[in-house]
Amino acid sequence: MIKTDRYAVFGHPIKHSKSPRIHQLFAEQTGQSLEYTAQDVPAEQFNTAVQSFFAAGGKGLNCTVPLKGLAWAFADRKTERAQLSQAVNTLAVQADGAILGDNTDGQGLVTDLTINHAITLTGRRILILGAGGASRGIMGPLLEQVPRAIVIANRTVDKAIDLAQAFQNKGAVSGCGFDDLQNRQFDLILNATSASLSDQLPPLPDAILAENGVCYDLAYGNEPTAFVRWGLRQNAAKSLDGLGMLVEQAAEAFFIWRGVRPETRPVIELLNSERRA
Ligand code: ATR
Repeated sequence: MIKTDRYAVFGHPIKHSKSPRIHQLFAEQTGQSLEYTAQDVPAEQFNTAVQSFFAAGGKGLNCTVPLKGLAWAFADRKTERAQLSQAVNTLAVQADGAILGDNTDGQGLVTDLTINHAITLTGRRILILGAGGASRGIMGPLLEQVPRAIVIANRTVDKAIDLAQAFQNKGAVSGCGFDDLQNRQFDLILNATSASLSDQLPPLPDAILAENGVCYDLAYGNEPTAFVRWGLRQNAAKSLDGLGMLVEQAAEAFFIWRGVRPETRPVIELLNSERRA
């Protein structure tokens, strides 16, 4: 009997995860036979759950909130982008049995912005709101696009300054508090705070978004997030949420595991039409 390769996403909470659906759609589209489930794993059970998953023959895992740091610590080997972001969202068994840790979030964001939405990042002024794990995960891939500058603004100013410091040798990056944003303008504002999840907004001055500027919330929901609504009120050329990034990071993980790159556009369109229904 041929055994179906097993994959899963671990997180806490995990009930509303779209990842099983996305990977099933990728599998159907590419003719791959695999199983992908969602498992609720609290942080204190992470190591045991991952060990048993791989011991039972599991091929790969996605890890989401609050487990990305633990997955980073667990991995035997890490890609450079995972090493830089200190977070891992994809674990994959290697031929020698070692577990490779990667982080596909930043690449997922960049692909969604540049390919799906035709937004140029090179030479642009980018503001990142928040200095937590989500912000750290996107810094490397954003800087590879050579923006004119990245400013990280955070409620706790020291965290923004520390994060900027960590990427200082990779481009023009600085950190500040929200109060320091007066009289500044940005072409792209990325919301990487967890404020969206409670429908809150970081305090932003008026006119901070340049003409034809773009807003992008790394979070997503069935309804537009508070930040997406803010962007629309600021007359953003586009005010987007993170559904495209979610599908793109999944496609990148699928490629790592299966060596096949799925087409993301039909999957994004399907998920979008379902939330409009
Ligand atoms: P994640 O892994 O999702 O990035 P995190 O590491 O806990 O989660 O970081 C959450 C980020 O959202 C932080 O930058 C946090 O600001 P502080 O560092 O000052 O705590 C930010 N954040 C959360 N709630 C916020 C709010 N209501 N307004 C502004 N920033 C908020």
